[in-house]
Amino acid sequence: MERKEFIRSSCNACLLLAAGYLLPTVAGCVSGYSVFKTSVVNNLVTMPIAMFDKSTLQLVRPKGWLYDIAVEKRTDGSFAALLLQCTHQENQLKIQGNGFHCSLHGSEFDKNGNVTKGPAERPLQQYKTFVDKDQIIIQILKSPQ
Ligand code: FES
Repeated sequence: MERKEFIRSSCNACLLLAAGYLLPTVAGCVSGYSVFKTSVVNNLVTMPIAMFDKSTLQLVRPKGWLYDIAVEKRTDGSFAALLLQCTHQENQLKIQGNGFHCSLHGSEFDKNGNVTKGPAERPLQQYKTFVDKDQIIIQILKSPQ
């Protein structure tokens, strides 16, 4: 292999490698949802209500957790919080259309956390929410394992 050919094939390999690293980052941006990172304090997660000014659905990731919580502002002004942990084998779920999708075995859940396609059989873990002035408070009675 000549030097020129070696350099060309090396560059192609580098481009493919870089694409492999960048693709998950780009895919994360495609959904259009940023993740609000916070902590659980006294079994409570707090987030500003102003976050819902632009979108009725937000993602929250408590520190140390492997899963996000999807928080949705409903049309009646209440909030629903669902743990995005697949109830089949605990894979992290992604937002898909009006619900959530598991990329491991294909389970799907509607926006209320009910199973719409198996193999998962149980609905998603739902957390109670409260509004206190300009904050939404999510009550975490049981953390994901
Ligand atoms: S872990 Fe989600 S469908 Fe199996």
